[in-house]
Amino acid sequence: MASAKLQAPRGTFDVLPSDGRRRDSLRALADDLLGRAGYGSFESPVFEDTELFARGVGASTDIVQKEMFTFEDKGGRSLTLRPEGTAGACRAYVEHGMHKQPQPVKLRYWGPFFRHETPQAGRYRQFAQIGAEALGSDDPSLDAELILLLDSLLERSGVKSRLRLSSLGNAGTREAYGEELRVHLRERGSELSEEVRGRIDTNALRAFDSGHEGTRAVMADAPRLIDRLDPGDAEHFAEVRALLDDAGVAYDLDPTLVRGLDYYTRTVFEFESPSLGAQSGVGGGGRYDGLVSQLGGPATPGVGWAAGVERILLAGSAAPAPEAPVYVAIVDREHRRAAFALARELRGAGMAAQVEQAGRSMKGQMKHAGRLDASTVVIVGDEIEVKDMGTGEQVPVADAREAIAVVTAGAAISG
Ligand code: HAM
Repeated sequence: MASAKLQAPRGTFDVLPSDGRRRDSLRALADDLLGRAGYGSFESPVFEDTELFARGVGASTDIVQKEMFTFEDKGGRSLTLRPEGTAGACRAYVEHGMHKQPQPVKLRYWGPFFRHETPQAGRYRQFAQIGAEALGSDDPSLDAELILLLDSLLERSGVKSRLRLSSLGNAGTREAYGEELRVHLRERGSELSEEVRGRIDTNALRAFDSGHEGTRAVMADAPRLIDRLDPGDAEHFAEVRALLDDAGVAYDLDPTLVRGLDYYTRTVFEFESPSLGAQSGVGGGGRYDGLVSQLGGPATPGVGWAAGVERILLAGSAAPAPEAPVYVAIVDREHRRAAFALARELRGAGMAAQVEQAGRSMKGQMKHAGRLDASTVVIVGDEIEVKDMGTGEQVPVADAREAIAVVTAGAAISG
């Protein structure tokens, strides 16, 4: 029987070294930007108790209803591959008593997330997110700081995007508004799509997200939550906006902004990139002042965002070229140990260095050095010579030590 060709599962992908370089430099950029603002590195398990997401993300959301990879472990526990990172961060905050630390607690993360969606460009079943969360303070400067950090990250990754911003107020305002909205939707029920009509009682807000023409007309006349904010929430939002204005960041105030997760209160935002087509959301987030207590912890405000790594790379520009390596060529087999040692010493001296490892002829090695875009080739035989690949100039040196001195001095001059 011929064995079937093995492939990565639908909606997943491999990261090959040619893509890996851009991911590495994005990660380094995110670590630097977030790290300098005090967001410490955080990791949580890729699977959690299913209940965490059912309670945290919201039982009526698409994520919980349709998109989770849920399985039973051998002990009969229901586990779920994490579809997002905020619920896990809040769980960890409570579990490790982080409310006893100085507040706010600032976390940053990078890692795989899983949603059972129909795959298309920019939408996968396993994707990576960069995320940041600030827990334990409702200061509006945290909302503004986080938005500005994501704005910088996108700008420095070459992503052109539009920022949509709104406020959802608090749970009480939302509840009263929800009732007002449901009355409006029921009054005009016959004009709505079947899906929206079916969700009036469970998730009326999602009607703003609909592409259905009749529904859109009904929503254009709908009451707006942003006009119903209580004075405290309105003042909080005004402060967030003032800080963004001071920073010169442009945004569209968009009361129709709906995020696909239930935990949001007050500020919500989303960065969209037109070059991504249908999956235009490149990153988004908001405040979630009720989530920690909903998960059984002490009343704790929080705010954060997550951005899709693949979407940033799709919408962004190319990464900077990697450092040109030094290539150590071997004249004949008896010099391979000396060449191996020289490459190791060059790396020890802080250089990028590679050594011949495939038995090529000298001509083949020089061709390979060209393919690698090597700056310099050190040729190791009875004599050692250093060749500058830019000028083509080749000079003999006394020994390995002098070769390293010449190469590092050259790098210092050109760098
Ligand atoms: P989210 O908007 O569901 O928010 O996801 C954040 C980002 O993850 C999206 O903007 C998108 O770039 C990327 N993303 C989502 N689903 C996929 C997919 N199937 N394929 C590729 N990329 C995808 C959250 O996850 C919240 N936890 C954000 C947050 C943090 N809110 C507060 N704190």
